Amino acid sequence: MDLNPMKRLLTFLLFANVFNGAFAQNYDESKVPAYTLPDVLKTEAGKVVADKKTWEQVRRPELLKLFEDNIYGQMPTAFDSIRYKTVQVDKPAMDGKAVLKQVEISVFRNKKSVQISLVLFVPTQARKPAPVFLLINNRGKDNTDPTRAKKSEFWPAEMLIENGYAAAAFHVSDLAPDNKDTYTSALLEKLYPEQLTMDNGMKAIGAWAWGASRVMDYFETDKDINAKKVIVVGHSRGGKTSLWAAAQDKRFAACVSNCSGNTGAALARRQYGERISRINATFPYWFNNNYKKYNDRENDLPVDQHMLIALVAPRPVYVTNASKDLWADPKGTFLALKATEPVYTLYKIKSGLPQNPPGIDMPVIGSHFGYHNREGEHNMTNYDWANFIRFAKGF
Ligand code: GCU
Repeated sequence: MDLNPMKRLLTFLLFANVFNGAFAQNYDESKVPAYTLPDVLKTEAGKVVADKKTWEQVRRPELLKLFEDNIYGQMPTAFDSIRYKTVQVDKPAMDGKAVLKQVEISVFRNKKSVQISLVLFVPTQARKPAPVFLLINNRGKDNTDPTRAKKSEFWPAEMLIENGYAAAAFHVSDLAPDNKDTYTSALLEKLYPEQLTMDNGMKAIGAWAWGASRVMDYFETDKDINAKKVIVVGHSRGGKTSLWAAAQDKRFAACVSNCSGNTGAALARRQYGERISRINATFPYWFNNNYKKYNDRENDLPVDQHMLIALVAPRPVYVTNASKDLWADPKGTFLALKATEPVYTLYKIKSGLPQNPPGIDMPVIGSHFGYHNREGEHNMTNYDWANFIRFAKGF
């Protein structure tokens, strides 16, 4: 191209403008469009669910399928075998307050396998079997350092142990590297290559959630762990994953979704902060191909994210925000949680949530619902974890 400098500048400005226009994000509450949420209790046949049996047998499976087909992709569960190898056996840790186990979970299908490395601290003094918080780690592996040379607020294992909880973590890259060019290289190419050919096939977030369920399989075999008290936790992209994992796998006793934002716990139809077109452009490998149809067409989605949270019902669920993290739409997150109430009501569970979002650093913690908007940035900190523990002590 032979453009003079002025023409080049004009071309650049034009391009930048188009680009920004395509991905303009709204942070102005007065510009949130009017919207109607799809009715969580209304079946595809138009019947309004009035009891938990119809919810469990009709509406819940319908919604799961809609999320699979339109957003997160299928969740294949067939495999040939699973093996657990304890590579580190009960090593005393944390001044004797815990033991460290490191377990390699291998899952085989058609003679191929994937390995998930689990880091697990079990409290020595507390009740056995111990309840456990399982972190889906989407940050650097050093955040879950088994040697504890590095102690990260992202996973304050000592705090969990002090409170009688086991602390477990695995890294997402064992299932799917968080990268658009290499995400298929672990679980997808090895165990489920057929998923890669389908428009509603599993992608990275589905693969990470699948991994959480394989850790759950392991917990069911470990006598030190109470497999009925496994709380799955994720932050941000990991928080989108913890919701999808808990929606799919009812064995998780509770779910924590921290700052999960768009295609996590925040309502899509508000179109506030990150939008579907933007997440699909930046992270095309997180969600299935069909999801691309909803770029700039939030209102055409047959679901919204309150329905994903509702799939955790009647189990306890905690969602959070951070005050400076408008990208993840704090208000839209609270409203999504609030909009799950009709489903919990089928189980005679009262949410205890206020009508409007609580103020910054004013956690609302009830028997089944937790919510807070922490002062500060997009992150998961000791403040967040201390509240998750308070919440978990209630069930
Ligand atoms: C990006 C992305 C978010 C995601 C976040 C994270 O900001 O747009 O959707 O939640 O990364 O995972 O930290």
